[in-house]
Amino acid sequence: MYKETQVMTLLNKYVRILKYNILHLILSEFWVDIAKEFFWKTKHTGQFLDYNFDVTKGEIFVKCMEGATTNICYNVLDRNVHEKKLGDKVAFYWEGNEPGDEKTVTYRELLQEVCKFANVLKLQGVKKGDRVSIYMPMVVELVVAMLACARIGAVHSIVFAGFSAESLCERIIDSQCSLLVTADGFYRGDKLINLKVIADEALEKCRDKSFPVERCIMLKHLSKEEQEASSPGSLSPPAKRSCPDLQVPWNPEVDVCWHSLMEGASDECEPVWCESEDPLFILYTSGSTGKPKGVLHTVSGYMLYTATTFKLVFDYHPDDVYWCTADIGWITGHSYITYGPLANGATSVLFEGLPTYPDVSRMWEIVDKYHVSKFYTAPTAIRLLMKYGSEPVHKYKRSSLKILGTVGEPINPEAWQWYYNVVGDGRCPVVDTFWQTETGGHVLTPLPAATPLKPGSATFPFFGVVPAILNESGEELEGPNEGYLVFKQPWPGVMRTVFGNHQRFETTYFKKFPGFYVTGDGCRRDKDGYYWITGRIDDMLNVSGHLLSTAEVESALVEHEAVAEAAVVGTPHPVKGESLYCFVTLTDGIDYTTTLEAELRKQVREKIGAIATPDYIQNAPGLPKTRSGKIMRRLLRKIASNQQDLGDVSTLADSTVIEQLFENRCCTAL
Ligand code: WTA
Repeated sequence: MYKETQVMTLLNKYVRILKYNILHLILSEFWVDIAKEFFWKTKHTGQFLDYNFDVTKGEIFVKCMEGATTNICYNVLDRNVHEKKLGDKVAFYWEGNEPGDEKTVTYRELLQEVCKFANVLKLQGVKKGDRVSIYMPMVVELVVAMLACARIGAVHSIVFAGFSAESLCERIIDSQCSLLVTADGFYRGDKLINLKVIADEALEKCRDKSFPVERCIMLKHLSKEEQEASSPGSLSPPAKRSCPDLQVPWNPEVDVCWHSLMEGASDECEPVWCESEDPLFILYTSGSTGKPKGVLHTVSGYMLYTATTFKLVFDYHPDDVYWCTADIGWITGHSYITYGPLANGATSVLFEGLPTYPDVSRMWEIVDKYHVSKFYTAPTAIRLLMKYGSEPVHKYKRSSLKILGTVGEPINPEAWQWYYNVVGDGRCPVVDTFWQTETGGHVLTPLPAATPLKPGSATFPFFGVVPAILNESGEELEGPNEGYLVFKQPWPGVMRTVFGNHQRFETTYFKKFPGFYVTGDGCRRDKDGYYWITGRIDDMLNVSGHLLSTAEVESALVEHEAVAEAAVVGTPHPVKGESLYCFVTLTDGIDYTTTLEAELRKQVREKIGAIATPDYIQNAPGLPKTRSGKIMRRLLRKIASNQQDLGDVSTLADSTVIEQLFENRCCTAL
């Protein structure tokens, strides 16, 4: 006979299983309904979402809509032009770095250009499954290049145009790209970036590492002649700030010109029908071991997820003008400039420039110019503009704004309030969207007007996302609590693997707590169930919304012959969120000088890119280490932010180094 408690336990178990299955059923229905709004060449056969998140039960996998075939480019362009009759609707208002540089592109024009470029790629020998590296500024042709890849089933790997030659080379080789698409150059504010020179340097490095890339297609963005700019079908406007004399290195064996290839290309191109789980793109994100990870997303799940989150989180209406200020080189640009908005037939602003150029009102000028109704930016940009007060904001009406979004890092309540009250005049909900390159789309986010907001909280999970908070031993914490943020089950847009290294995928995200996807972020849940991201809890830093790995910066530093050892930590920064504070121990006999310091900064910039330029570098004749030789970063973080309360230092091998490090602290950043 069962005892009463056993009966209760069993009953509870069955209720849980039942609840879980009902939830699963409802969720599948939810997504299956959404899927009906898209075009499928063939329907899916198996269950909507199949997965294993538990390393102890076998290989980790996520499969969405197996058996279905579709094409994402067809769905975001052809379907809008032909089925929904949105051909004449504006897809992008391109706004250049220089005020007055502008261009409007309709859905029909975008489709034509994408088809042409898809034909160009095919003529260059690109086939389904091949990887194409794209290294371009924020121009419409960047969207054209990515969608052209998607149209023919090629996998794009976009590298942010602020990354160095070394970083580009590393990514090209890791993803084994057969072709590079780039541009001559661009302006970032006043600064001219000769992109082709950097791209060539990267290709040279690839050759040195026995990975010759045979083709490089270059768009003339700055060096374009008048007649080329006005040629039929040219999407780029005659730039107000062009640079016809730009010295563009040219290797006739490798380089081909975008414009001459496009001239002869047909604007009809049958899409290649892809399986649901065929790869769509690779996008690199920092890894805590130093080497960037090629996050891989696949066709159907990513399409459904970005389209749906865009629609609901920004409460999309057909007459909206939406503007996301991110660069397409990051996941925010992939999901919420290209795929999500286009899947909904939305009109977006595509901005090439900076929030502070030519002055700090630029954002609000653009909002008024295009009547932007939904605006999406990063806390670092908000904090930067906040420094200049409300006057530059009040110069413009901003009456078109309806929803404000934020992404990339925790937003401090002060910045939230300024965004809400000054930018949004206290009438636009702020959607604080938490997500990652890996998640493909928003995972914790308010739904505007439906979710009561708390400044600084990303509030609740999106439909189908099941978060949990775990303690160090992997136990799930209930109610108000703080710990590791994990997810219990997949959603359609979650990453599928690390390109070429499935083991790394499993180790990074699933090994620590079997059964869960581990975000790497810390999180608090309050008594009302709201989630508050507390920041990274791995060796990752978030500088201006960009993730950097301390290991990557350290290895760039120690590659300099003067450096014997380096340790990098983050320290709070009023605008960037965190800044890079580097401790370097020099090789014996070398003196620490300002020239050396400048060289080290340059070294990091050249190895990784300008976003990783250290703010502080400190000479550290000794580093605090445990007896087993492990660097105690916890103490370095305290030194960097001048906090004298060090806590437990009993494991420290030599405590005299601490005093010396406090004495040598840097007080001024770059
Ligand atoms: C952080 C960007 C707090 C977090 C889309 C995450 C955030 C990392 C938020 C991913 C937010 C992003 N609140 N933290 N709303 N959004 N993060 O891959 O640490 O560039 O893990 O993707 O940014 O950065 P990633």
